[in-house]
This record gives sequence, structure tokens and C-alpha cells, in this order.
Amino acid sequence: MQISVIGAGQMGNGIAHVFAQSGHGVTLIDVSEAGLDKGLATIAKNLDRQVTKGSLTADQKAETLARVTTSTEIAAGVKNAELVVEAATENVDLKLKIFKDLDLHAPAACILATNTSSISITRIAAVTKRPGQVIGMHFMNPVPVMKLVEVIRGYDTTDAVTKAVADLSASIGKVPVLVNDYAGFVANRILMPMINEAIETLFQGVGGVAEIDTIMKLGMAHPMGPLQLADLVGLDTCLAILRVLHEGLGNPKYAPCPLLVQMVAAGKLGMKSGEGFYAYTAGSKDLIVAPAFRK
Ligand code: 3HC
Repeated sequence: MQISVIGAGQMGNGIAHVFAQSGHGVTLIDVSEAGLDKGLATIAKNLDRQVTKGSLTADQKAETLARVTTSTEIAAGVKNAELVVEAATENVDLKLKIFKDLDLHAPAACILATNTSSISITRIAAVTKRPGQVIGMHFMNPVPVMKLVEVIRGYDTTDAVTKAVADLSASIGKVPVLVNDYAGFVANRILMPMINEAIETLFQGVGGVAEIDTIMKLGMAHPMGPLQLADLVGLDTCLAILRVLHEGLGNPKYAPCPLLVQMVAAGKLGMKSGEGFYAYTAGSKDLIVAPAFRK
């Protein structure tokens, strides 16, 4: 199948990686050449991990990379696509603009999927002339590792499109789970209040960063604590999702913690900016609490 992926950031390059590894031709599209180069370098690095572990051969790595081409133009990048998966920044106006463009330039039969973490599929579909072919395909970070694809049906999404996307997800080794289109769907409606509550607990001084994360890791068998997970997802993304939940469901319990709002304003976005609840150094896996939260 020919698949175009919009956005070469942490979700987009992971989505391109898993499709290309399963034999699909992928066009990775981003506004900047630098973004594309960074995305391709991340795919190569993550494929190397698999080669080192022995789950992929060096030849399979080379074949996977050879299936990925790049483009900085939506019109050229989607002209032969059978499926587009949009994984741009979590910003509703940007996504609406991209879907208008996709609808103009992608072939009539092409399915338009979005990896949005919380924005209404129905609202995105409504700016196209093919709402029956618009669907949510929500991958989890890190995409090559996490098994879930949350498949979200918009108001008009057809049974045939839903089945095609679920079957495709299963064929690349993922487990599709079908849900309906309300703010945050299921994954983030449950995850983000937990992350927000962990930040609130820190904000109120009930516990420190390491204490909160250790409690959730050792007490609840979570693979990483909620504050470390917030850093992995990106604090700007967490804030954007909480705002969608707050506005979309109209319940004050989803209001983002003031500490989260302040950290995003300060540019402390987690791993991608080098600092969030922890401080990150390239090449190091050590988990060091950020200076602002050291006792
Ligand atoms: N690409 C490919 N492989 C990767 C990888 C990547 N980016 N990151 C890790 N891996 C592989 C490693 O090679 C390793 O493979 P192996 O077990 O076969 O040897 C395995 O994953 C585990 O990696 P590590 O040993 O380096 O580290 P950990 O054991 O600490 O696991 C983790 C890392 C898989 C990220 C684990 O901590 C985890 O599951 N964390 C929770 C992740 C999570 O909750 N994700 C969902 C976020 S929410 C989301 O994405 C929704 C969005 O809308 C907000």
C-alpha cells in the first residue's frame, strides 16, 4: 500500500517506521527539510536498536529505509496515496487546514486518518468532502514499541473504512481497539487526568518528582512514572489535550494544573526541549530530577 505520513516529529517518524518495516511504501511529509532529516535519522537509529537486538537484519533495515521517501509539499506528497496518516502538532486550526489540503490533493479513494490525541474526528472530517473516509488512527509513543492503535470513528466514518483501518493496523503487528468520537477518546481521557493529578500532587508539595514516580512504578507496576511519561509525551501536548478535555467535556476536573501551564510557558516541554520534570542529556539514560524540583 502507498501511505503518506504528515509530520516527521516523534509520532510521525514512528508511524512511517512501522509501516515501512511492514513492506508499505511511505512518503514522509514535513514543512522543513531539517525536520525530515531529523525524522529519517530517528528512524535509522530506532532500526539500529532492532538490529542490535537481533529482531531485524541489517538487510531488512536497509530495505525499510529504502521504502521511505520524503517531500516538503502536501500536493506532491499525497498524489498517489491510498492512506494518509496526519501526525502534525496538536493544534486544531493547523489540522483543519491540513485536512482541507489533503482533501484537495489526495486521490478520491484515499482514506484520511489523523493521529490526533484528542481533537474531534467529526470536526476534522467536516472540512472535507469525504467525511465517510476520515478516521482517527491514534498510535502510542514510542510507536515501534507500543502495541495499541486506538481507532476512532467519526460521526460519518463508514463501516468499510473502519474495517480497512483496523485490518491494516493488525497487519503491521498492532492491536486496533475501536472507540467513539468524544473529547480525548478513551486513552487520553484516562491518562491525562492521571498525569495532571500527579503534577497537582507535586504542585501542592505532597511529594517530590522522584517520590511520585517511584510510587506509581513500584506501587502500581507502571513502566514509567506519570511525570516521566509527561516528559516523554511532551508537556505542551499534555496541556493541549487537557484543554480539549476541559472545553469538550465541560467539567472543571479536567482543568490543567497551573504548574503545567507555567512550565509550558517557560519552554520546559520535557524530553524534546531537554528539560521538564527531569533534565535530559543527549546520549545519557540517567534519570536526573530537573533543577527546579531538586530539594
Ligand atoms: N523505537 C524502537 N524501539 C524502542 C524505542 C523506540 N523509540 N524505545 C524503546 N525501544 C525498545 C528497546 O529497544 C527495548 O526493546 P527490547 O525490550 O526488545 O530489548 C524496549 O523498547 C524497552 O526499551 P528500554 O529497555 O530502553 O527501556 P524500558 O524498558 O524502560 O522501556 C518504554 C521503555 C517502552 C518506553 C517503557 O518505559 C514504557 O512502556 N513506558 C510507557 C510508555 C507509554 O505509556 N506510552 C504511551 C504514551 S501516551 C501516548 O502516546 C498517547 C499520546 O496521544 C499522548
